[in-house]
Amino acid sequence: MSRESRGTLHLEDARVIKQTAYDGEQFVLRLAAAACATHAQPGAFVHLTCDPSIPMRRPLSIMRADPAQGWIEVLYKVLGPGLHALAARKPGDTVSLIGPIGKPFVVHPERPRPVLIGGGVGIPPMVFLADRLRSEAAGRYKPLVLMGSEIPFPFRTRPSAILIAGIPVGTIACMPLLEEWGIASRLASRAGFPGCYEGFVTELADDWLSSLGPSELAEVELFACGPTPMLAACAAVARRHNVPCQASLEEFMACAVGGCAGCTVLVRTPEGDAMKRVCVDGPVFDALTVF
Ligand SMILES: Cc1cc2nc3c(=O)[nH]c(=O)nc-3n(C[C@H](O)[C@H](O)[C@H](O)COP(=O)(O)OP(=O)(O)OC[C@H]3O[C@@H](n4cnc5c(N)ncnc54)[C@H](O)[C@@H]3O)c2cc1C
Ligand code: FES
Repeated sequence: MSRESRGTLHLEDARVIKQTAYDGEQFVLRLAAAACATHAQPGAFVHLTCDPSIPMRRPLSIMRADPAQGWIEVLYKVLGPGLHALAARKPGDTVSLIGPIGKPFVVHPERPRPVLIGGGVGIPPMVFLADRLRSEAAGRYKPLVLMGSEIPFPFRTRPSAILIAGIPVGTIACMPLLEEWGIASRLASRAGFPGCYEGFVTELADDWLSSLGPSELAEVELFACGPTPMLAACAAVARRHNVPCQASLEEFMACAVGGCAGCTVLVRTPEGDAMKRVCVDGPVFDALTVF
């Protein structure tokens, strides 16, 4: 069942197709949600009812969407009662879903080297963006995906067969799904996982950008999602290398449809400072206007 709202949002009773658990109380949930799958774009999110006994919905980024088969996937890490209840949903259960919500990432053909930086539960929109770059813009872009996590990654890492000039020696672990898609990826952690860069994912990005010449840097744009300190570090890296950076922000949300102003952030605009709602004016913003 799907009901359209304001021509953009869809309310659906989404059926759980499967739920896969990973270390660190992380889960990938696949939901049958045909309307959301049809309209989803990388950077957009859904607002889910985790359990009928918990009235407040929870926002989760869309990690993958298959419009042909009518499903979406989200990746989440259990934090409190809402996501704990969501983790108990079994195949066949239904979950009320509003989405897709929010302004997505925008790629620019004049910057064909997008660098996708995902930290922790900021990984999902980067997988979605990589998927769209390969399926809708095959050959036009040469993306590099960099992911960071201090707990085990929510997938089994493996050494990459894709060589990337400028990446520190020994940094060879990748995300297998991206590797299957032919997209270069590398992982960073301070937890000492094999094959991962020992440090923050933003330090890995900084190292790689430092290896590029001016004409290569002119083709780069950063796309980031993760904890606020990581996004601030991404903005600093972007400034240092003089490249643009789009960031997907996370804020506490009540309505998620623009009605309560509970999710506002201060953004610099050409007209001066302005309060913007993360749910509908974002969640994707020009990072240099926020940090
Ligand atoms: C646009 C957006 C996309 C997100 N995408 C993901 C994702 O893909 N995977 C993932 O694991 N998490 C994601 N989050 C964070 C996730 O929504 C929170 O971890 C979750 O709401 C916590 O709910 P809880 O009941 O488990 O925890 P509690 O801490 O008990 O939550 C209590 C209340 O605080 C709110 N809340 C708590 N932490 C956050 C937070 N960081 N952001 C917004 N609201 C919060 C909850 O909605 C709830 O109303 C996203 C948040 C936003 C805003
Ligand atoms: S959460 Fe209500 S306006 Fe954004």
